[in-house]
Amino acid sequence: MSKKIIEDFIKDFRNITTWGRPYRNATVKFRKCSNSDFEERKQLVIEAGLNVFKFPSEKISGCDLLSDSGTTSMTMEQWSQLLLGDEAYGSNEGYFILKEQIVETFGEQWENKNKYTENFFIFHQGRAAEHALFKVLSETIQAKKLKKEKEPYFIIPSNGHFDTTEANIEDNDIGAKNLFCEEYLKKDTNAKFQGNMDIKELKKLLENPKIRNQIPLVYLTITNNRAGGQPVSMANIKEVRQITQKYEIPLFFDASRFAENAWFIQKNEPGYQEKSIIEIVHEMFSYVDGFHISFKKDGLVNMGGGILIKENSIFTEKYKNFQNKLIDHQILTEGHPTYGGLAGRDLKALAEGLKTVIREDYLTYRIEQVQRFGKKLIELLKDKEDKSPIKQPIGGHAVYIDIDEFFKDTKMKDEDFGGISLTALLLIAGHRLCELGLYTFGKFENGKEIPPSPRVNYVRAAIPRLVYEDQDLFSLAEIISILHKNKDKIPGVEVIYGRDLKLRHFKSRFKFKES
Ligand code: F0G
Repeated sequence: MSKKIIEDFIKDFRNITTWGRPYRNATVKFRKCSNSDFEERKQLVIEAGLNVFKFPSEKISGCDLLSDSGTTSMTMEQWSQLLLGDEAYGSNEGYFILKEQIVETFGEQWENKNKYTENFFIFHQGRAAEHALFKVLSETIQAKKLKKEKEPYFIIPSNGHFDTTEANIEDNDIGAKNLFCEEYLKKDTNAKFQGNMDIKELKKLLENPKIRNQIPLVYLTITNNRAGGQPVSMANIKEVRQITQKYEIPLFFDASRFAENAWFIQKNEPGYQEKSIIEIVHEMFSYVDGFHISFKKDGLVNMGGGILIKENSIFTEKYKNFQNKLIDHQILTEGHPTYGGLAGRDLKALAEGLKTVIREDYLTYRIEQVQRFGKKLIELLKDKEDKSPIKQPIGGHAVYIDIDEFFKDTKMKDEDFGGISLTALLLIAGHRLCELGLYTFGKFENGKEIPPSPRVNYVRAAIPRLVYEDQDLFSLAEIISILHKNKDKIPGVEVIYGRDLKLRHFKSRFKFKES
């Protein structure tokens, strides 16, 4: 065969439209139930009080998209690290390997140079890290003392706090404020970085000296889970940094999906196409004084969380001795800083996960799969005016169904909680999604429902990492399409327990309303 023929073939090979995955299956889990067990699932959904958290996972025959958190399939390399775990009580092997990988992944500024204190604090998951951070911060700034009745004195602005972050801030007598950007609020489908913080609003807060004094910390969540999983641009991170730096207010990331955010910057932000993911990650993390992270997402592990505090930063200048107070809290609640709330073997698997997550082939496949599923849904759910209830652009870890759009022109009212009803029907079909909307973020106070402000009303399909194939997701898309076509017939739900409880979506029970 001539060289030319081979070259021509290679040219053709390059033009194929469906490329294989950048990995292969090493282990698989067979289901214990069948797709057609509809009657059994109907019974179980009713027994669970239509609460998706209470439904037994082994009875889910389709996609379990309740969360992308802690649901990752680990790689063979990670499993092998579990066997090599060192379970020493102090300074186990994994701790040092993980610290090295942290510097490798997030950049040199995250090296622990000060021998007398830690800069890295391990927790068993993200919210434990949040709880520790905000508790120690609250004590440091005396938030409880300065709180007037129910009104907190201090506030922590963010582009969008996740629900546990917000709850942990508020539980520690500080107010949580969300500054969603205009493009997000206006549902501008062409805006590529709807996760951004509203710079004008941030400036308004910080330029007022009285309010400025009430802000101990500013937060950016990357990607912005609360705002439809949308990414934050490097330009926005830089601008937030410039303003906060001007007033010497520390800036932190909630970095749970940092690698996915970096992928969007590489793909869509001018000037970053030639940069590698790791270069982009290093730049992102050069602008913050610290971050907290749930390693259950972009750490590619099933458990783990952490706090990192940059040495010689605005944060360490402002809050002297903070790290030592954090260690005290950590020892009381989790364990010694060299293992935190995890086993030594977990630390090694996490170090391996932090290596994999910044691979360009992994990230591209991962996010493009989410996009393919989203596009399929957009196609299937389009109305006569070509509009679809799918949040666009599609975010990094999940597809969000806008419930207000989904039930547009139907009799569904806010107090019918259409999102809860939709998730219950999807469970009967064999798939688990969750409501992140009027019920999850709303409150019942003085006999009245108070919707979240600004209003958010979604049902989210969060895609676990390295778990599902397109076929699984497309099967779910067909089910959602059936429900959308028959949206007039979907009943509302009645809350039969827990409406006025804190974090009520985890505990409540519902039943379908009789029509
Ligand atoms: N921050 C963000 C942005 C999150 O999405 C989560 C969890 C946390 C913090 C808390 O971390 O679960 O390890 O305690 N999000 C999950 C979700 C639960 O389904 O979106 P955790």
